[in-house]
Amino acid sequence: MSLPLFDAPKEIYPAFVAEAEIVLFQGDVNDFVDSLPDGSVKLIITSPPYNLRKAYEDKISIQKYLTAQQRTIARLHRILHPQGSICWQVGNFVEKGEVFPLDIYYYPMFKELGLFLRNRIIWHFGHGLHTQKRFSGRYETILWFTKSENYTFNLDSVRVPSKYPGKRHYKGPNVGKPSGNPNGKNPSDVWEGLAEEWESCFWEIPNVKSNHPEKTEHPCQFPVELVERCVLALTNEGDRVFDPYAGVGSALVAAVKQNRRAMGSEQEADYVNITHERLQAYFNGTLKLRPIGKPVHKPTGKEKVAQIPHEWQEQPQQAR
Ligand SMILES: C[S@@+](CC[C@H](N)C(=O)[O-])C[C@H]1O[C@@H](n2cnc3c(N)ncnc32)[C@H](O)[C@@H]1O
Repeated sequence: MSLPLFDAPKEIYPAFVAEAEIVLFQGDVNDFVDSLPDGSVKLIITSPPYNLRKAYEDKISIQKYLTAQQRTIARLHRILHPQGSICWQVGNFVEKGEVFPLDIYYYPMFKELGLFLRNRIIWHFGHGLHTQKRFSGRYETILWFTKSENYTFNLDSVRVPSKYPGKRHYKGPNVGKPSGNPNGKNPSDVWEGLAEEWESCFWEIPNVKSNHPEKTEHPCQFPVELVERCVLALTNEGDRVFDPYAGVGSALVAAVKQNRRAMGSEQEADYVNITHERLQAYFNGTLKLRPIGKPVHKPTGKEKVAQIPHEWQEQPQQAR
């Protein structure tokens, strides 16, 4: 276990200063990014506004939205460290029932800047809204790009338990020896369990809806654990992690928890205040967080919501 860099409450600076361990800027992302030095951020991780009419969004046309995003991404490229990464988490823009997968639109913007795609991570939800005229959407993606071919990737920090640790080589020079890694396996590019539990708390099981330890009033907050995996894999202790659309500061909490320097910009004062409160609660030891790597809750089948409703039990099976 590493020693915590943040062993006591740290000052939260409202604007960038080189020695700051935490910077939380209230205002437009572009104004903040322009105040940062070249190459100063090791990981930019964000879920940008989606143009989907959430509480904080005005609906503008997709073209206008993408043009504005392209300008911001070019600015972000300037501040990204030569060995750094950008993780861009997006879903779909939907207009009159037509789906526009945002990562397809974003990909060429990053490529134009010369970035390298390392993974298109599928963040899969087991639960969600049920659509009537198309299949229900059950995943979003995280595009992970690096600025160069020489980048930080700490696989050993994020290994997960293997399903069959007892597997052995059955041929070749290592025959009979364990074939896996004693520290676990690569978590792969499909991130399921963590998202499934997160979503199930909000969408599907009403009696646990308000009980998820991390939930705030923000409509689409990151689970801290999701950011933590990226922070651990793509940065080293003391590196700067920046969420340009910080919301209620989940990325800042993840960075601080893992002894990285944290920065965020957010236009809404309410969300900035919540981020302050969450960081203070973290330092006081009162912030409730789902521990990283905690096994996902599996229903036993005995829960009320897992039972077939009695009204359906007498109906004949529908023909398939
Ligand atoms: C999808 S949410 C991010 C939520 C965040 N990942 C969290 O865990 O709380 C996008 C955020 O971007 C903020 N935002 C939108 N446009 C912005 C801008 N131009 N500058 C700064 N923040 C902006 C919104 O207020 C919103 O909180």
